[in-house]
Amino acid sequence: MKRFFNKMFVVGAVALLAACGGQQTQTADLPDYLNPEVEVEARIDDAMSRMTLDEKFAIIHAQSKFSSAGVPRLGIPELWTTDGPHGIRPEVLWDEWEQAGWTNDYCVAFPALTALAATWNTDMSALYGKSIGEEARYREKDVLLGPGVNIYRSPLNGRNFEYMGEDPFLASRMVVPYVQGVQSNGVAACVKHYALNNQESHRHTMDAVVDDRTLYEIYLPAFKAAVTEGGAWAIMGAYNFFRGEHACHSDLLLNQILKGEWGFDGVVISDWGGTHDTREAITNGLDLEFGTWTDGLTMGATNGYDAYHLANPYKELVKSGEFTTKELDEKVRRVLRLMYRTSMNTNKPFGSLVSDEHVAASRTIGEEGIVLLKNDNNVLPIDLGKTKTIAVIGENAIKAMTVGGGSSSLKVAKEVSPLEGLKNRVGDKAEVIYARGYVGDVSTSYNGVDSGQNLVDNRSEAELIAEAVEVARKADVVIVFGGLNKASHQDCEDSDRYGLELPYAQDRLIAAVAEATQNLIYVNISGNAVAMPWVNSVPAIVQGWFLGSEAGNALASVLMGDANPSGKLPFTFPVKLTDTGAHSMGQFGNDGEVVYGEGLLVGYRWNDAKDVAPLFAFGHGLSYTTFEYGEATIDKSSMNAKGSVTVTIPVTNTGNRTGKEVVQLYIADKEASVMRPEKELKGFAKVELEPGQTKEVSFVIDAEALSFFDDKKHEWVAEQGEFEALVGAASDDIKSSVTFTLK
Ligand code: GLC
Repeated sequence: MKRFFNKMFVVGAVALLAACGGQQTQTADLPDYLNPEVEVEARIDDAMSRMTLDEKFAIIHAQSKFSSAGVPRLGIPELWTTDGPHGIRPEVLWDEWEQAGWTNDYCVAFPALTALAATWNTDMSALYGKSIGEEARYREKDVLLGPGVNIYRSPLNGRNFEYMGEDPFLASRMVVPYVQGVQSNGVAACVKHYALNNQESHRHTMDAVVDDRTLYEIYLPAFKAAVTEGGAWAIMGAYNFFRGEHACHSDLLLNQILKGEWGFDGVVISDWGGTHDTREAITNGLDLEFGTWTDGLTMGATNGYDAYHLANPYKELVKSGEFTTKELDEKVRRVLRLMYRTSMNTNKPFGSLVSDEHVAASRTIGEEGIVLLKNDNNVLPIDLGKTKTIAVIGENAIKAMTVGGGSSSLKVAKEVSPLEGLKNRVGDKAEVIYARGYVGDVSTSYNGVDSGQNLVDNRSEAELIAEAVEVARKADVVIVFGGLNKASHQDCEDSDRYGLELPYAQDRLIAAVAEATQNLIYVNISGNAVAMPWVNSVPAIVQGWFLGSEAGNALASVLMGDANPSGKLPFTFPVKLTDTGAHSMGQFGNDGEVVYGEGLLVGYRWNDAKDVAPLFAFGHGLSYTTFEYGEATIDKSSMNAKGSVTVTIPVTNTGNRTGKEVVQLYIADKEASVMRPEKELKGFAKVELEPGQTKEVSFVIDAEALSFFDDKKHEWVAEQGEFEALVGAASDDIKSSVTFTLK
């Protein structure tokens, strides 16, 4: 309601001016701070000159669970934020986490960000950002609390599904169009959680111990790209410590790196409950404090907003003379700049909510993100000409996945389950029989949003598996939908997984069903890698992600072959947990100091260094067609630091249907004076090829692609000497390579 009155105030102010003028108000009659013709910095100056001290304090901290104050007297609107990275969270009560029960705030759930990353297609990022930005805009939200780009250091991290995988280059490329797409709607992206929030266990107290090279080469690039290329208007501080400072008020992360080295001119927003010290909040780069005294999900002091660190306590320190208004004015300037980009932006579109375009976008992104991991004997795609009975098994074939998982939980207008999607697609051309297979999490509600399903099933594991085997025996094709489900410890905020294994006895179910059929397809619905002890007895395996509103339709489209899968893994599937750097060193999930001892060797970098074969590799993904790579060539044998070389490779579709292939470029530094990973992703291109068609795929390699972060000089350095450009279809499937020299 406050917003409404604020808006009416602005209208009133303008109308009053018009009445006084006796004619249509010209913008020239407007004061600078209200005049869209005036450039923003001058408008900020004017606004600040008119604001009282109390009004300045009011706009740098929350006034409700998800909003901060405007300046009612001047007609400057409030600022409204909303979760999350996959869709627009339902309206909550003023000071509660529970939903407010509105009936106009249903949304479209887009695929989880790991699925977006798995598309390896920046056009999909642009489509995603534009679409979710339109939903936020229509809901009149000024700041979208997403995307998340924390690096996938362990397959146990509860929030990996909200992030973009294990590789900094992939995450950096994929985050930029998302940010630009959101902000094209006059809605700020708030990229999170900056930085080193790579586990949920003890997330408020753990202290990430990371050396500078690892920080700059692995954990910062996606944030840097979001800011320096994406132009992000907001960044969210993480909960954890880094080098003794809380990330939400870290002089190193916020003042020195973000605002100093990267020139960030936006607003640093704390995570909800991430602010712990008034003086540090004043001096260490925090601009807008939210959610203090909550744990970011449930509890919290009610209406304590005036007691926030950047509220009365800060005012007292200014009144006592301990602080001038220097830091205050800098914070206010940044918050006003955010307002002129969003709430005060008179040139923004109106957005849209649950449009056909958004539903289609959700499905398209999902179809492009699904990864075909294995397809022996061409079990896939399902051929309805030969298939009379399809058995669908598993709780994940029916369970709503858009409710739960923490702050990214949504209230969707519609969610198509895998079972529904298959039935929609198959129609009466085949019989679809369902069996539960296993019982996992029967809860169906979160923050007052309820999927309305009744998942209760009291049968024993033996009965459930017996029934599944029975239907499998009778079917021509069997699809098990398993995986995780965003329940606590099963890909969920504020809890990590207990282990790499599938929960709820799914391994026993899959092994039993594999005995009963040759045509078994396992679809893994998850945001993380899982162990697959039965991998050799299952001919077809699909990584199905948390795909949102159109999950069932996207999955059915790929399984039935309407869409040719083109996704590639954005993270490694290790065979076992200790095949990862973090877990081989026992440095994950603990409280206090967590030493990222694996350093640069995250994901495939670890597999390469230790010569450990993954279950499925970073960058792996099959198609219903086949691709053949020719020899890579290079336009010159050497380059200087200001120059570049161009590597080209022909790729041919040698199958009988159109498909897309993600051609990947890795760089190896053959003469490094420092330890470097064996190879690092430095380019990718997704190309569509008709049957028989060949395309020449080229990569321009400049010194940046050859550089490492020299933590002694504190700068990026490309050392002269020999380099190798490796081109492949996956990190463990290099097709051709060429060497060249940096002079
Ligand atoms: C949560 C999360 C953050 C979210 C915020 C508001 O605890 O850490 O991602 O945007 O608080 O819900």
